[in-house]
Amino acid sequence: MQTCILGKTGLRASVMGIGAGGPSRLGQRDHIRSESESTELVLRALDAGVNFIDTAEGYRTETIVGAAVAQRDRSQIIISTKKSLGRENISREALREGLHQSLRRLGVDTVDIYHLHGLRLEQYDYYSREIVPELQDLSRQGHIRFIGVTEHWNDDLAHKMLQRALADDLFDVIMVGFNLLNQGARETVLRAAMKKNIGVLIMFALRRALSQPDALRTTMQTLIKRGEIDARDFDLDDPLGFLMADGSAVSLQDAAYRFCRDEAGAHVILSGTGNPRHLDANLASFARPPLPPRHVERLRHIFRHVASVTGQ
Ligand SMILES: NC(=O)c1ccc[n+]([C@@H]2O[C@H](COP(=O)([O-])OP(=O)(O)OC[C@H]3O[C@@H](n4cnc5c(N)ncnc54)[C@H](OP(=O)(O)O)[C@@H]3O)[C@@H](O)[C@H]2O)c1
Repeated sequence: MQTCILGKTGLRASVMGIGAGGPSRLGQRDHIRSESESTELVLRALDAGVNFIDTAEGYRTETIVGAAVAQRDRSQIIISTKKSLGRENISREALREGLHQSLRRLGVDTVDIYHLHGLRLEQYDYYSREIVPELQDLSRQGHIRFIGVTEHWNDDLAHKMLQRALADDLFDVIMVGFNLLNQGARETVLRAAMKKNIGVLIMFALRRALSQPDALRTTMQTLIKRGEIDARDFDLDDPLGFLMADGSAVSLQDAAYRFCRDEAGAHVILSGTGNPRHLDANLASFARPPLPPRHVERLRHIFRHVASVTGQ
């Protein structure tokens, strides 16, 4: 497994990270898997060289992650978890209590990265003034190694909250929505993050539009109607078939993960699944070489004006 240095944290992370949330929640969303099967899935990823796991109190997968971590060397694993925020501002006490509950569920004394989960622009002033100092205090006390923030991409398509966070330089790590369909974060977020050496986690690499061919076709039709892509640039019956036609990629998902992995400024690409076959396929994707530059250029060209979809 290829590794990278996660910006200013100095942590050496695998470029593929396990996402314990998203549409699958390790198979827990529709109870497709038992908890022990989901634990096995995490262990399978760890044994294949993944050392980064992202969870959150809101995903209800922290105990599963904790059960897997307890069976391996904790010191070799980077655990990222998050405090749910909701619409009402949370208090300093609620933050502290939330962290301690997460530590208990994970069965660890320290989390490597603790994020504010899905912070919205209108909440930014309160959280930066009242809650970030508390996070810094918890970090000094040794409960958190690094501080992070994740965006609410579906409601913040232009990444406005992260742009403020980057300008203020309050966070060690950020999580941003980016995929081959909507590459807007390249200019608005990744460039600034690189300048400040912020650790960058990528979410939404696949989501629905890049994991299900029918959803991709529907998304492409929507984007044509909105004038964000040009139907002359691809074959609507098989919009991204050119990536597979010459053997450059083995599947749409394969291409989508590799596209994100090789984006400048992206460190860890989160991959969420509840399916061991998908996990194995995704591990294989992260081991493949970069997509040919002509395909990367074509993907940049086709989607260069897209700003209205996340692939959700
Ligand atoms: N604001 C936030 O903080 C936030 C928001 C969203 C996500 N996240 C984090 O980011 C992680 C990644 O989330 P994501 O939803 O963006 O993940 P993703 O990896 O882009 O997409 C996951 C979806 O793709 C499917 N999938 C995965 N591998 C596949 C394959 N090889 N073939 C076909 N389908 C495949 C999964 O279904 P199967 O289960 O069937 O494989 C699931 O429905 C989350 O787990 C979470 O940790 C954070």
